[in-house]
Amino acid sequence: MAHSDICILGTGAHVPAKVLTNHELARMVDTTDEWIVTRTGIRERHLAGKNEPTSMMAAAAARAALADAGVTAEQVDLIILATLTPDQPMPATACLVQHLLGVPARAACFDLNAACSGFLYALDTAWAMLASGRYRHALVIGAEKLSSIVDWTDRSTCVLFGDGAGAAVLGPARGTARLLGTRLYAEGAHAHLLCVPRGPKPVIQMKGREVFKNAVRQMEDAVREILEQHGLTAAQISSVIPHQANLRIIESLAQYLGLPIERFIVNLDRYGNTSAASIPLALDEARRSGRVRAGDTTLLVAFGAGLTYGAALVRW
Ligand code: ACO
Repeated sequence: MAHSDICILGTGAHVPAKVLTNHELARMVDTTDEWIVTRTGIRERHLAGKNEPTSMMAAAAARAALADAGVTAEQVDLIILATLTPDQPMPATACLVQHLLGVPARAACFDLNAACSGFLYALDTAWAMLASGRYRHALVIGAEKLSSIVDWTDRSTCVLFGDGAGAAVLGPARGTARLLGTRLYAEGAHAHLLCVPRGPKPVIQMKGREVFKNAVRQMEDAVREILEQHGLTAAQISSVIPHQANLRIIESLAQYLGLPIERFIVNLDRYGNTSAASIPLALDEARRSGRVRAGDTTLLVAFGAGLTYGAALVRW
């Protein structure tokens, strides 16, 4: 299958029912709703319960994406699950999702960890594997249970994260939702800025200000390069789906690119930062709410631990 024949056939999303508001968080750590909203834009996040592992959220999002695409589990021959919170170190959570969905044994299934850029890394990988002609229908999933690696006593990080999953089905073209291109990067020299060091209870540690500065620079670079590669100007981009980490990061990016903030699809107020799930959650919401229409060009752009970053272009 040629690269140009591969489309996003459907999308789906799932978030756990439990919601934790900023006001509730303010009773757990020394913070306020006002501080969280002004510094991040986040108002609430969804949290998975003890019996809601990443695999379960991933499978729910994948089922919705398959239904949307009109593709059956039997037709899927590739599952790539982007996550930094797998159910267990092994087996790969993608294999558990395969079993939950009833995807046949001949499918290739694996996890991929590129933190918050994970969905774009998975999209690029699936695209290349489909273009090889050896696979036909791929499930690309981003799913996270970040609540399991958050230090709930650290106010500088616990206010930022949430749980959830988003998925896309990739397959042969039906003329719309074509992937135009992807571009991935990593700067391992900055790995220490955002990490989960090994320990009795591994938790997220982050140098927030440095991550903020790098995030804006990296996403701007990624956007400029992918636009140049495709002979597009920022003005020709109908909508942008950025990684949902912090509204101020998104506003800075909009300013540097000279794009109105209205073109950015933002749902972090309701979900917080769900890492690899953030872009597919927003993508599904954008499609279902009519924010993206046939003929639109949408830019996806992410950054995350690694530090990884990247961008992708979709023509609807
Ligand atoms: N409530 C109240 N005060 C707080 C809180 C809180 N929740 N958290 C920190 N503060 C205090 C700090 O202690 C500090 O107080 P001090 O001045 O007395 O020392 C003050 O607020 C300012 O702290 P900063 O860290 O300088 O605040 P900043 O404006 O940089 O905002 C934030 C912090 C929101 C973390 C910001 O730096 C940020 O968003 N960084 C990027 C983070 C990010 O996107 N991470 C996700 C990466 S994606 C991935 O791969 C998981």
